Amino acid sequence: MRILGIETTCDETAAAIVELTRDGTRNILSNRIRSQIAEHTPYGGVVPEIAARAHAEILDRMIGDAMEEAGLAFSDLDGIAAAAGPGLIGGVLVGLVTGKALALGLRKPLLAINHLEAHALTPRLTDDVAFPYLLLLVSGGHTQLVAVEEVGRYRRLGTTIDDAIGEAFDKVAKMLSLGFPGGPAVEKAAREGNPERFTLPRPLLGKPEPDFSLSGLKTAVRLAAEAVQPLRDQDVADLCASFQAAVVDCIVDRTRAGIRAFRRDVGTPSALVVAGGVGANKPVRHALQRLSTEVGLKLVIPPPALCTDNAAMIAWAGVERLSRGMSDGLDFAARPRWPLDEARAKPGARA
Ligand code: KG4
Ligand code: ZN
Repeated sequence: MRILGIETTCDETAAAIVELTRDGTRNILSNRIRSQIAEHTPYGGVVPEIAARAHAEILDRMIGDAMEEAGLAFSDLDGIAAAAGPGLIGGVLVGLVTGKALALGLRKPLLAINHLEAHALTPRLTDDVAFPYLLLLVSGGHTQLVAVEEVGRYRRLGTTIDDAIGEAFDKVAKMLSLGFPGGPAVEKAAREGNPERFTLPRPLLGKPEPDFSLSGLKTAVRLAAEAVQPLRDQDVADLCASFQAAVVDCIVDRTRAGIRAFRRDVGTPSALVVAGGVGANKPVRHALQRLSTEVGLKLVIPPPALCTDNAAMIAWAGVERLSRGMSDGLDFAARPRWPLDEARAKPGARA
């Protein structure tokens, strides 16, 4: 089975082809991605209208490149998978309409993919992880602990009550003039910093429900920064290191609560898996490695290029769905909001 995947929900335009062979081998035949960072940098964040235009300008070329790299003709495909949300609606429409047109023209099934589901299923593409498992999704838009029980069966155990973790990295970077996107810049600056110089809060630490809160920590960083003006490079490094250490403590504590909730409400997880851009952060990865050793749980973190947004994960979610006989109608509407556990709350909501 070979599926073309299309991803346009945020600021990356991506197209990829993933293959599942008869013996269960997964092959990423091509995985093309173009970031729009340059277009958005002058504004310090993603501008939806600019994103939609940029997707529309290059998506067809990205798909052509992905087909060429895979050495396939469109007739070799078994289906077209396009991210149909959640995300910035203009961009989602560009990808979904393109996917629909291809599916219609080629008479192939359309798979309208939930972008979060694609993140959630990525460890099955990279590591063939068995259900059920605990997913820690930490990106710019989402911070969730989810029990992944089957394709289409997700139980959200916890979420952030304010900012996403990636968003907090981005906001801290912005207030310290480190540029956009902020995560990698904060991580880099933190390497030269003292994590104990500033005493910062660890919101919700020790609470039994596996929820997250970031806004108090972000405010504390701002107040600490204002107290040492003018900021020298070493101050910025120390702020970044102190912030990152607080985030790592929160992630570890909240994930530990998530593992407890999973064992209580779902059963025995086969693994702890991490997805989303913050999963690229080295101190976060190391801390989760220590936690998983401590609690006796296998840790799976896909390589950074498959942690951040990409189209291989959309194609793979298409493989998972099509191989279970699922597909979507050409009237499927793009969805700016689309919670992962909704399918469970409303069975049959998706055709
Ligand atoms: O999953 P992703 O590529 O896009 C979505 O949000 O869906 O995640 C991007 C987020 C951004 O907020 C970025 O700052 C953060 O992930 N991020 C990082 C790192 N690399 C990316 N945060 C911390 N450390 C990093 N190395
Ligand atoms: Zn994402």
